Amino acid sequence: MKNFITLPYKLERDPPPFETNEIKTPESLPRYFIKEFTRPGQTVFDPFAGLGTTLFVAESLKRIPYGIEADPRRHAWVAGQMDNWMNLICADSARAATLGLPRMDFSLTAPPFMAITHKWNPLYGGDSAKDGYDSYLKRMRHIYKQVNKIMKRKARIVVQVDNIPGRRFTPLIRDLSNALSKELTLENEITVAWRGGRDDYRHTTCLVFRNN
Ligand SMILES: C[S@@+](CC[C@H](N)C(=O)[O-])C[C@H]1O[C@@H](n2cnc3c(N)ncnc32)[C@H](O)[C@@H]1O
Repeated sequence: MKNFITLPYKLERDPPPFETNEIKTPESLPRYFIKEFTRPGQTVFDPFAGLGTTLFVAESLKRIPYGIEADPRRHAWVAGQMDNWMNLICADSARAATLGLPRMDFSLTAPPFMAITHKWNPLYGGDSAKDGYDSYLKRMRHIYKQVNKIMKRKARIVVQVDNIPGRRFTPLIRDLSNALSKELTLENEITVAWRGGRDDYRHTTCLVFRNN
């Protein structure tokens, strides 16, 4: 498996009108990993489905998409454009193992990121009892423990992540890699360089895990 690849940076879909956050990941990334790690007819799972990039690409490649998205507006917008709309569940992905989902062949996501200096934990929609970076990392570990339960044996689980610059730098790639390695086996760290990318976003990183 390569540890450095170059993919075109071209966004193929507009975000919904209610969305203030831009879409950042181009379709070329899920397209590459889904083709690399699955065959047509296999299941592809995104535990943080967001605006559906992974699921739309999976469906267009004749894989069977499944996902979880906690935000009801994003859930409705994505499900409304999927043939397999009933496979997208509006829930907390910490419940992944309790939702009656089938065993998955492959998982790919860009999870919510958190900076080390922030208090607001994006995995809990801002529950102040769960503030802080340590709580975020613990919850990500817990979520992947649950995700692992619905993955087929030896299935690949890819997590796209970036470090976060700032006055205090957040080494999110290292920290998520360490947290999730407590539940999964880290197999590779792939640097993805964008061809034709933006000046402020030249590359990203994909951590490739296998379940045990
Ligand atoms: C960076 S986006 C995901 C991008 C997505 N993987 C794609 O292909 O477009 C992260 C998403 O995770 C959702 N989210 C945050 N906490 C969650 C949780 N505990 N369970 C499920 N979804 C969650 C957010 O609402 C957000 O839409």
